[in-house]
Amino acid sequence: MSRISYVNGRYVAHRDAMVHVEDRGYQFADGVYEVCQVRGGRLVDEERHLQRLVRSLCELRIALPMTLAALGVVLRETIRRNRVRDGLVYLQVTRGVARRDFLFPAPETRPSVVVSARNIDEAKVDRSAGEGIAVVTVPDNRWERVDIKSVSLLPNVLAKEAARAAGAREAWFVDKDGFVTEGGSSNAWIVTRDGTLVTRSADFGILRGVTRGVVLSVIAAQNLAFEERQFSVEEAYGAREAFVTSASQTVMPVVAIDGRPVGNGAPGLVATALRRDFPDYAKVG
Ligand code: PDD
Repeated sequence: MSRISYVNGRYVAHRDAMVHVEDRGYQFADGVYEVCQVRGGRLVDEERHLQRLVRSLCELRIALPMTLAALGVVLRETIRRNRVRDGLVYLQVTRGVARRDFLFPAPETRPSVVVSARNIDEAKVDRSAGEGIAVVTVPDNRWERVDIKSVSLLPNVLAKEAARAAGAREAWFVDKDGFVTEGGSSNAWIVTRDGTLVTRSADFGILRGVTRGVVLSVIAAQNLAFEERQFSVEEAYGAREAFVTSASQTVMPVVAIDGRPVGNGAPGLVATALRRDFPDYAKVG
């Protein structure tokens, strides 16, 4: 079966899915995106993703290209046409096509909308979760507005490539004061020696992850010990557990940081339980 993508109002063969060379996403990374999990052919946490999309667009003063209901229809249709059961749907909105100029184009310029979807090998992700992943720390050299889910991801690309070169699966960004901000494409968590879950507060320093939000509801519902605060690399080295959250992996245990084993070097009990319970709390629609 050949893949189909949505590009500016049309469903086209994925191999022919193209945007113009003067699309501002291509020229300036002037756009935003969302990645939603698909489970059993259905969107996970659509509302939270679309609300975050609206916020990102608003912060960058890009117009919402269509109603949220219409966007939902396009996401579902792309999932359906690609027969995605368990996978991801990707949505990108840019400021549109205009002659290359740094200044915003004329207000009537239509934002570009691209949607693609694909299956992921769930068994493979589960196998990774069973083993846990390694992370390495890198300086956080991104701009200050990482709360906006912008397609400007070069520092993330370089960080994740550095992680791969070091034999790790994710990079953890560290701010100038030695505190972990978040992963290259995930939010970062630890469980302290006394069993308290810790993650950085979602100020401007991190992306407010949808998966992070769902894990917060699991924590609240199960009355788990939790602190929303900064944690240093040193504290993470000494943690009982660590894990990352993202739409593509939900809860993924971290078993090594900078080559040092976390806890006993195996996926932790808290992370494993959160991963197990996650589907009960995520909204599927
Ligand atoms: N990444 N932080 C960063 C920098 C991210 O890129 C992501 C998501 C997250 C987690 O957000 P969420 O739980 O909403 O997926 C945190 C997506 C999956 C990506 O770029 O592929």
